[in-house]
Amino acid sequence: MYVCICNALRDRDLAQAASHPDATSAAKVFQRCAARPKCGRCIPDVTEIISSVQISRDDTLNEAAE
Ligand code: FES
Repeated sequence: MYVCICNALRDRDLAQAASHPDATSAAKVFQRCAARPKCGRCIPDVTEIISSVQISRDDTLNEAAE
């Protein structure tokens, strides 16, 4: 599904970029996608994807530690 229409970025593109440990903000995720926000309508969705990926990563780390 396309999340960022301006840059033709899909949810999976953004989730992959957000999975990098340095991708802690929408700006950094866009940077990893070699794109820049234009209209900004997708920023809340990008932020949500970052949170989702971080929660998933934290859960995986917690499971590994148990
Ligand atoms: S929809 Fe992402 S910058 Fe416009």
